[in-house]
Amino acid sequence: MDHADAAAMPSPTDAPPEVPQVDVTLDVNDTRYHLRFDSRVTLLDALRDHLGLTGAKKGCDQGACGACTVLADGRRVVACLALAAQYEGRKITTVEGLATNGELHRLQAAFARHDAFQCGYCTPGQIMSAVALIAEGRTSCDEDIREFMSGNICRCGAYPGIRAAIRDVVAEG
Ligand code: FES
Ligand code: FES
Repeated sequence: MDHADAAAMPSPTDAPPEVPQVDVTLDVNDTRYHLRFDSRVTLLDALRDHLGLTGAKKGCDQGACGACTVLADGRRVVACLALAAQYEGRKITTVEGLATNGELHRLQAAFARHDAFQCGYCTPGQIMSAVALIAEGRTSCDEDIREFMSGNICRCGAYPGIRAAIRDVVAEG
């Protein structure tokens, strides 16, 4: 290493580089929030750490488990891989936004009826994904439900109950 390289290296005593802050307005569960945060903040961290909406869970933090699934304009998003700043102007729905007037969403009630969980860690993501799945109409058979819910991993293996809950809601019409 010559002197020029050594001069370019950050020293342990250097102040950390400034991270740009951004002003972002997020529309979550029909409430508008004005936030300011590090531009690298994920949608999941914005929801959990800045808004206190801890329903969406951090499982893998790598887009592989679906525990963090929320909806943006009705479409599924793995919030751990989404930059919050890019979701300004989108309608975000989390599991906290499903119940209306204190009444559980039909899928929440069906999950409870069918014991579609054990530890419950994956459940908010499963339910949000199932809401979108039903809206997408990809529920004509068990194989489709299995295929289009395959991004949501349940380490407790509650899949039979999850599919039964979805089938129930589809059958209700
Ligand atoms: Fe986002 Fe696993 S925490 S996919
Ligand atoms: Fe435990 Fe799904 S209920 S991970």
